[in-house]
Amino acid sequence: MEKYLNKGIKDLISEFPEVRDILNEYNIGCVPCSVGSCLLKDIVQIHNLSPEDEEELMARITRAIYPVRNLAKRDSNIDISNGVYPDRKIKMPKIKKKAATESKEVKYSPPIQKLVDEHALIKKWLVLIPEVIEKLDIETEDGRKLVCDGVYFIRSYADKFHHAKEEDILFKYFDGTLDIIKAMHEDHETGRAHVRAIIEALERKDKKAIIEHLNGYKELLTGHIKKEDESLYPWMDRGLSIQQVGELFAKFNEAEEKIGKEVVERCRKFVTETEQRMKII
Ligand SMILES: [Fe+2]
Ligand SMILES: [Fe+2]
Repeated sequence: MEKYLNKGIKDLISEFPEVRDILNEYNIGCVPCSVGSCLLKDIVQIHNLSPEDEEELMARITRAIYPVRNLAKRDSNIDISNGVYPDRKIKMPKIKKKAATESKEVKYSPPIQKLVDEHALIKKWLVLIPEVIEKLDIETEDGRKLVCDGVYFIRSYADKFHHAKEEDILFKYFDGTLDIIKAMHEDHETGRAHVRAIIEALERKDKKAIIEHLNGYKELLTGHIKKEDESLYPWMDRGLSIQQVGELFAKFNEAEEKIGKEVVERCRKFVTETEQRMKII
């Protein structure tokens, strides 16, 4: 089993497709991840399941990897001579955790909470995108302005402000070669590519392409934020010292000063006004 713990998840899933369904049941959505070379042991550690869930998950993965009929062939250390099922016989590898959570409710440190709060505003915009698409009219000045304002929000608030705090500050406290960090960077880049495509499509009045890339951005960021809120941030929080949490808080405050209150305010106003507008039109 040890060798499978140290195997990239995409390779493991292609060898044992059932593992994908098992992970999905535990809300461990590795399939959409573009990198996919995270090791099974890192994935289990990052998602910080309860000890019971982790044991059950590992038992099910072990069963998928070592069906009873193949046990003797694949691992000579496993004795199935008396017909014992693998989940009862195989000793689960212990995965080191900094601290096991007692409850499912996530408590973030103050600087990470700031990022989660920023996600909340970004998600409000993502929720509006289908309605914006439905009512999209690029033949009018007003309709084109709505797309431009949406792009301004993404570029200023979601990217220059929020993603920059992650890339330039938070992620620097961790090993940048980790697949989970690389996957987050890749998502940010894919988001930027969608935005460039929206602007280009608007210039040539290509409504179909605007819709395609607005939808692409919505899909991407919805999954990205879920991964950060539910897995990455809690995992990072567990790895930060109290001193580092303090440093992060101060650095985030500096970043907020740098971008300027008026930009943040303009972005908040855009979301509130678009919410109103989508109700009216
Ligand atoms: Fe991010
Ligand atoms: Fe984020």
